[in-house]
Amino acid sequence: MKNLIAGNWKMNGTLESCLALARGVVEGIQADPQLLKKNEFLICPSYPYLVLVQAELTQAVALGAQDCAVKNNGAHTGDVSAEMLKNINCSYVILGHSERRADHREQDGYIAEKAAMAHRAGLNTIICVGETEEQREKGIQEEVVGEQLRDSLPTHVTAENTVIAYEPVWAIGTGKSATPDDIAAMHGFIRDQLEDENIRILYGGSMKPSNAADILTIENVNGGLIGGASLKAEDFLGIAKAAE
Ligand code: PGA
Repeated sequence: MKNLIAGNWKMNGTLESCLALARGVVEGIQADPQLLKKNEFLICPSYPYLVLVQAELTQAVALGAQDCAVKNNGAHTGDVSAEMLKNINCSYVILGHSERRADHREQDGYIAEKAAMAHRAGLNTIICVGETEEQREKGIQEEVVGEQLRDSLPTHVTAENTVIAYEPVWAIGTGKSATPDDIAAMHGFIRDQLEDENIRILYGGSMKPSNAADILTIENVNGGLIGGASLKAEDFLGIAKAAE
């Protein structure tokens, strides 16, 4: 299976900088088409930039959103439906990111409902799980992630509609990634919980070109969900290059 190298741009950039970044990613892949042999690429800008960023992309880079509504189209002010995302050619949506769980009090059941909605619209979901630092210190990371997997995945989860992202909360944006041993243990645990053995499991949390080779070669790591380092085309593609 190819690695999925996914950029989570979060709430960053201006229209101009996002278009330049998208162009940088496309050009970087064109300059090094070998990258497509082992990797698939995805970028997830924020809502206002999706349509215009899409116009910069080629087949080599998929487009995704960072969230979607739990409801279908209708009277839901401020929400964006999975159908709308599909309509503007998004193929993925990130759901249950720890920043949404924290900032918007999103809980497992709610995330599962969103994921079911996204699947019905034909979107592939990247469902995020991961423990906090406190939970890891207590040694309950597998209980926490096990419960998140049980409750935030909808029914009929397959490799065609779902990717799991393991993102230890304490590693996100901190520069401190999990150790290869911890990643191997957790990805092995997650693999055991999933019925479809072809579901990709991404690692996320301070991934960068300098640690990518160590992380992407771990068993059951099938790509990365990359925040900070996805904001520079060179670093984003550098992660895929490092794993070659
Ligand atoms: P980071 O973010 O790479 O900046 O740690 C990862 C994520 O939150 O998806």
